[in-house]
Amino acid sequence: MQKQLKTVITYGTFDLFHIGHLNILKRAKMLGDRLIVGISTDTFNLQKNKKTVIPYSERAEIISHLRFVDQVIPESCWEQKHKDIIQHNVDIFVMGHDWEGKFDSLSALCNVKYLPRTKGISTTKIKSSLKQHKEPQVSKLVAFSH
Ligand code: CTP
Repeated sequence: MQKQLKTVITYGTFDLFHIGHLNILKRAKMLGDRLIVGISTDTFNLQKNKKTVIPYSERAEIISHLRFVDQVIPESCWEQKHKDIIQHNVDIFVMGHDWEGKFDSLSALCNVKYLPRTKGISTTKIKSSLKQHKEPQVSKLVAFSH
């Protein structure tokens, strides 16, 4: 009898792609055979009060080219997860542990797992460190021009 392939799904914005993103996607794939990644669209992010640096089309392009990602789908609203799980025959739903407990209702449809986040990195952290570095760089340029 042929072995049933396991499908894993995860969601996120994945702006300014970093090692925490890479780690969770790799670990998600290791839980099954096929990985689907739902990427929040720019419009959905605006509803969440999130403004990305990188537009949806580019975030989706980057993630679709990772060798352990099998399919990328747009995430346009909170409610679609239920439909996606059924439509794509998903076995395991994965999120980082910052979402612990938030999607437990989906366990009626599939296995729900929250994986530990990679410590010390986030898109928010990168954005704020870029902001902090802006000042000194500008003043360095001014200093050189004298
Ligand atoms: N993630 C992770 N480890 C990190 C950062 C993110 O495992 N250090 C996971 C999140 O838990 C989520 C996925 O990556 O399951 C996508 O997260 P996203 O919100 O796009 O990334 P963040 O870096 O957390 O972005 P922000 O700071 O804007 O919330």
